[in-house]
Amino acid sequence: MRIAVIGGGPGGLYFACLMKQWRPSAEITVFERNKADDTFGFGVVFSDATLDIFERYDAESYRAITDHFAYWDDIQINFRDTVHRVGGNGFCGCSRQTLLILLQRRARALGVTLQFETEVEPDLSAFAGYDLVVAADGINSRIREAHRDHFQPEVDLRPNKFTWMGSTRPLDAFTFFFRETPHGIFIAHTYQYEPGRSTWVIETDPATFARAGLDKLDEEASARFLEGIFAEELAGHPLITNRSLWRQFPMIRTRRWVKDNVVLMGDAKGTAHFSIGAGTKLAMEDAIALFDAFRAKGSVAEALAAYENDRREEVERTQHAADVSLVWFEHLDRFADMDPRQFAFGLMTRSKAITYDNLRLRAPDFVADVDRMFAETVAGADLAAPRPPLFQPLHLRGMTLDNRAVVSPMCMYSAVDGLPNDWHTVHYGARAVGGAGLLYTEMTCVAPDARITPGCTGLWNDAQEAAWTRIVDFVHGHSRAKICLQLGHAGRKGASRLMWEGMDRPLAEGGWPLVSASPLPYYPDSQVPTELDEAGMERIIAEFVAATTRGARCGFDMLEMHAAHGYLIASFLSPLTNKRTDAYGGSLDNRLRFPLAVFRAIRDAWPSDRPMSVRISATDWHEDGLTADDSIAIARAFAKAGIDLVDVSTGQTSPASRPVYGRMFQTPFADAIRNEADVLTMCVGNITSADQMNTILAAGRADLVALGRPHLADPSFMLKAAAWYGIDIHQPPQYLPGKDQALRNAVKDRADFEALKVAAKPKRHAKGTFDQAAE
Ligand SMILES: Cc1cc2nc3c(=O)[nH]c(=O)nc-3n(C[C@H](O)[C@H](O)[C@H](O)COP(=O)(O)OP(=O)(O)OC[C@H]3O[C@@H](n4cnc5c(N)ncnc54)[C@H](O)[C@@H]3O)c2cc1C
Ligand SMILES: Cc1cc2nc3c(=O)[nH]c(=O)nc-3n(C[C@H](O)[C@H](O)[C@H](O)COP(=O)(O)O)c2cc1C
Repeated sequence: MRIAVIGGGPGGLYFACLMKQWRPSAEITVFERNKADDTFGFGVVFSDATLDIFERYDAESYRAITDHFAYWDDIQINFRDTVHRVGGNGFCGCSRQTLLILLQRRARALGVTLQFETEVEPDLSAFAGYDLVVAADGINSRIREAHRDHFQPEVDLRPNKFTWMGSTRPLDAFTFFFRETPHGIFIAHTYQYEPGRSTWVIETDPATFARAGLDKLDEEASARFLEGIFAEELAGHPLITNRSLWRQFPMIRTRRWVKDNVVLMGDAKGTAHFSIGAGTKLAMEDAIALFDAFRAKGSVAEALAAYENDRREEVERTQHAADVSLVWFEHLDRFADMDPRQFAFGLMTRSKAITYDNLRLRAPDFVADVDRMFAETVAGADLAAPRPPLFQPLHLRGMTLDNRAVVSPMCMYSAVDGLPNDWHTVHYGARAVGGAGLLYTEMTCVAPDARITPGCTGLWNDAQEAAWTRIVDFVHGHSRAKICLQLGHAGRKGASRLMWEGMDRPLAEGGWPLVSASPLPYYPDSQVPTELDEAGMERIIAEFVAATTRGARCGFDMLEMHAAHGYLIASFLSPLTNKRTDAYGGSLDNRLRFPLAVFRAIRDAWPSDRPMSVRISATDWHEDGLTADDSIAIARAFAKAGIDLVDVSTGQTSPASRPVYGRMFQTPFADAIRNEADVLTMCVGNITSADQMNTILAAGRADLVALGRPHLADPSFMLKAAAWYGIDIHQPPQYLPGKDQALRNAVKDRADFEALKVAAKPKRHAKGTFDQAAE
């Protein structure tokens, strides 16, 4: 077998080693344009988990690497004169140059031919006689670019500027230095990788870069300027340059990795932002995956297909974590005013891999600090023994919630003529005694023709008012939960079938006339709504006000205006559904006019000591729809009009939207709105554990966390969460024996969890560590 590897970076060299070790008869040549010892960059980072893998695949190179690395356990965050240290991370740093020399040595010993100072031309005509061509030619891959039409790369050039430098400054932790200057904030991502050498990747946003005049400074002048910025942190040590130009990070993804017998690997096929230290790791793990594919399959074609198929998910997961991480660094201005404890917690948990519970286990003092910080923001909280954020109360106007967990609004489609019945009493009652601080009703419609389906609840007549009063009385009489009435009008999504008979599909018969911002049907075969005129707006505002007045009499603690998910009010906000040319269409200000008019009218009719929220779809998940920036402007407009909380959902405006689902996928929108529009937010969507809820709250990404489907599956979600954290929350006396049971279960679950986490952290790679701190 003849194999050509284009590029002698860590990915290419490691693949050559693995293959040659397995198939000594294979003829393997690595073609590299640079000289053997001619390399850019300073250190590279590997986690404990990656080192485990290296050991399994090639013990020889593993030993060589671990004899030459610096090892640390802590991540340190230096922000505004504070220092936070979080242990249990298990990473090593190694010089890129040393790594390459070790891999070259290993490759040579195995019999791989290394051909340096050879520039490979991307047409690859010189490689016709090879069975396999591995394009490991890095981030600017000429091979990928020459065959763009086939590989289909997408390059997203991120706005922040960064430069890769080094220093002689010793460090005993992966350290983030944040330095506030009159120009803006500079960030240094730093770690030691060999005695007397550390990596300093310095990053800043484009506005700070321009204000500091860095566009006019060359490499050396930039280094001297940054030495001034980080003078305290460098403690007299210089910054060292080596092709340390200012760059913008390209997030690269390629649709295809394989063309005939040519395969992309490492940075050539896709990148991951340096803030998660995964570039070299990804390249070497690609090499392992490609090698595994050859071991498992009989032919080159089968092996390449298996590599592309089996490896993609893991790469995309890492890239997603890297994306989330880089976005955090791009939006530093959102967090710069936070309490340093919250700032540090937000940094640690930015890419979702590290959570509140995880940190509690390995950095209990840090989490205790974060709990105290959170408690300090809550009037009357116990500062001596602060509860986890999820169990802290929230005060909104005259209403106090016992905790931050919310049952999200969920239609039951079980009413007749809008009248709640036994189903609703049992459903809401069960969730109220289940321990959540706040309970939302399903979308309750302000008129018969405002309903989504014939099964939706309403609040336009006395019988409905009496039925809701009974539910509210039960909630207040048997639990400490508060209950919020969600009022809405279905707009063009009205006259639809019950969820289980066809979500958003039009009724076959018995429908009613629909209105919307513009006469656009939801589906092509849905009813065409009438464009709402001013008289119609007046009528609907009056219906909202009447339902609000009834809601106040029922005793609801809070009121939400439903302006999300493509219903009537949302149809005005989104440019996808609002095509009007009058004062209610066009600019965002115009599109806000009707929603704000409804809001002001019901706010006036709602008791002033009771809070109100508005639910919005913060993005339409559609390129012509609402963007995250629009939603910040919408939240600001509602905040100015007196909203107490923005309930941040997304999408469902148009069947053409393309949501990107994932764990906690809507939380970034709640985060952006909270920290940019300066208004309290509630997040929702694929949040499934109390751990995630605490992580979101402690990081300041939202003020309340709503769970929908998890509460359908488990009405007592919060009682179990309380047992898990050993927190005493209110329970009805009838259920007290169950509390002991929940506690017993939680103690066992916790013990299992802790054993698992400790077992997963061997730290045995630390054997090669030199005494960094002593230097
Ligand atoms: C300036 C810079 C500094 C970096 N420093 C660090 C660091 O300190 N730590 C870290 O973890 N990561 C660093 N990275 C990222 C890291 O280098 C990559 O994520 C990782 O090296 C990817 O490995 P790779 O094998 O895919 O590609 P690379 O390491 O980029 O290797 C590709 C190789 O292919 C060669 N090549 C390219 N085209 C041709 C051609 N046509 N013919 C012959 N040879 C060719 C290149 O010379 C290069 O040696 C840095 C990246 C850049 C751009
Ligand atoms: C059966 C069902 C009915 C829903 N009805 C409503 C509703 O009436 N009003 C509303 O704003 N959202 C409604 N939603 C959306 C939820 O409030 C929530 O935003 C969504 O389910 C995502 O959260 P989850 O992942 O925790 O379920 C409904 C969701 C479900 C599953």
